[in-house]
Amino acid sequence: MTTTRFAGKSVIITGGAGGLGAAIATSVVAQGGKVGILDTNQTAITSLVSTLKAQGGSADGRVVDVRDGTAVTTAIDELAQSLGGIHILIAAAGGSLGTPRDMDEISDADLDLVIDVNVKGTYYCARAVVPHMKKNKGGSIVTFSSIGGRSASPVTGIPYAASKAAILGLTRRLAKEVGEFGIRVNAIAPGLFLTDRLAGMFDAMSAADRKEVLDGIPLGRMPDLRECVDPVLFLASDESSYITGTVLDVNGGRLMPN
Ligand SMILES: NC(=O)c1ccc[n+]([C@@H]2O[C@H](COP(=O)([O-])OP(=O)(O)OC[C@H]3O[C@@H](n4cnc5c(N)ncnc54)[C@H](O)[C@@H]3O)[C@@H](O)[C@H]2O)c1
Repeated sequence: MTTTRFAGKSVIITGGAGGLGAAIATSVVAQGGKVGILDTNQTAITSLVSTLKAQGGSADGRVVDVRDGTAVTTAIDELAQSLGGIHILIAAAGGSLGTPRDMDEISDADLDLVIDVNVKGTYYCARAVVPHMKKNKGGSIVTFSSIGGRSASPVTGIPYAASKAAILGLTRRLAKEVGEFGIRVNAIAPGLFLTDRLAGMFDAMSAADRKEVLDGIPLGRMPDLRECVDPVLFLASDESSYITGTVLDVNGGRLMPN
């Protein structure tokens, strides 16, 4: 892959200090792009930004809770100033966020947290970048759905399923609204990728349970993080210039929708 693929591009990555987000940020910088990280984890942002700068990259970060629409807009406007505009948004902040899987254990606060971060957070970040992308006469937004929003996953609960399905509606409707400005919007729907957080969970499973997971994946193996990063960056880049309003399933064949 050329190291100049994202030359001149400023890429906002929400949840950019997390497992997939940091891997995406590292790859963008390696391919010549500038990154702006939004995350709630101050320590992880500081460490990632300094690592990327030490590698000669251009990186900046803000501690922002994506549930706060005003704070999101302020941070994105600041990053547009410091990075020189905004060309790409990768909206990865989210997850089950430590909430329980089963309905009898899910509190109202758990439901609000998962819906607010995944759905409203994605909306607020998209709303904040669109004016900057209009100024550039184009842009690319990649939202994060999940196999858990595409099918009834046994691993994650109802709030996660609902929020990740909602992101698909958000993605399509936004794509329709901003297409005329040259802004594309697509979703990625990963299967299980073993970030540091999830690797421990997978390792703690019994051999029989791990075998059951692997037996459900036609490719018969767990993926490298790169195998999610590369499809995300395909959607983010000009290589997908005539693709908008779609969802890209990245799950080794575990789900094959019509
Ligand atoms: N890893 C997987 O297997 C997998 C599978 C399907 C979908 N996804 C989705 O991919 C995205 C990234 O997942 P990950 O595995 O890297 O998770 P992660 O937990 O490693 O990273 C998520 C990041 O989001 C940040 N975050 C959480 N709440 C936030 C908030 N309110 N505001 C700003 N930042 C916040 C966290 O601090 C963390 O750095 C999530 O949306 C997740 O649902 C992951």
